[in-house]
Order: sequence, then C-alpha cells, then structure tokens
Amino acid sequence: MARFELLVNGTRHTVDVPPDMPLLWVLRDVLGLTGTKFGCGKALCGACTVHLSGTPVRSCVLPVSAVVGQPITTIEGLDPEGNHPLQRAWRELNVPQCGYCQAGQLMTAAALLRQNPNPTDDDIIAAMGGNLCRCGTYHRIRQAIHRAAEIMRQEGTQ
Ligand code: FES
Ligand code: FES
Repeated sequence: MARFELLVNGTRHTVDVPPDMPLLWVLRDVLGLTGTKFGCGKALCGACTVHLSGTPVRSCVLPVSAVVGQPITTIEGLDPEGNHPLQRAWRELNVPQCGYCQAGQLMTAAALLRQNPNPTDDDIIAAMGGNLCRCGTYHRIRQAIHRAAEIMRQEGTQ
C-alpha cells in the first residue's frame, strides 16, 4: 500500500492503495465516484473514460501511481449541476438507452468539443470511434454533439 494525493474534480483526496491499482477502482471503490463505469478492463470500450489534465484517458488501465499531480475530471465533475451543454443536448435528444456507456461517451465528447468547437460528422466519428455502445446509440450521440456545439455557439461559451 502507498499514499497518493489526487486532485479529482477540483478536490484533493489522499488515498492509501496499492500503486498499481487502476484509477477506475480508486474512483469507484475508494472515492465513491461511481459514474465512471467498468466495461472491458482492457482499454477497448471507453466506458471508463475520464479526463487527465483535460485529455481523455482509459482509467481501467491507468495505475493510480501514474496520475499523481495531474487534475482528474470524472463525469461527476463535468458540470456541478449536470448542465454541461453536452448533458443538456443528451437529455433533449434522449440519447441513452441502457445508459451504461454514456458517461464515457460524454467525457470523450467533451474533450472533442474543447479541441474542436464545430466538428463535422467525420470529426465526431474519428474522435468517438473508440467508445463502444452495445445499444447502438451512435446516431443520437452524433446528433447530440452537433446540438451541444450549437448550444455553445448560441451561448457564446466556445
Ligand atoms: S473499461 Fe476501460 S476501456 Fe473498457
Ligand atoms: S446506451 Fe447501452 S451501452 Fe450505450
């Protein structure tokens, strides 16, 4: 076991865990942030996506010892009220089916819009292609990313 100080959603936490414990388990089992999901455990599905210094990463394969000193954002921290333009667009267009993959989808989409505020369909497909949805909500995800970009333009937040 070892002590690590983590900065998660703007709050400092000290955790006492094995250094090779995946960040996903620290978030879910130690910090109680269960919005981030376990899918494959092998960096293949994207369900566990969080931001590390603003970059989307697969927390299921990232040892906690590798993230010290870098800000981590989970779905709980995307917007304090759950009202990020993507979350509003997701609700407006009823994107989720079972919902299991959606936190990872939102985190990947948020990183895309930060880099590219007006993505084309091809940009979206390229950025989101690693996030799997076994319910097949891909079409609505694409529409909702366009809608979120529109909301951000209308509100001048991009
Ligand atoms: S659970 Fe991490 S990529 Fe699938
Ligand atoms: S909404 Fe069910 S896996 Fe994506």
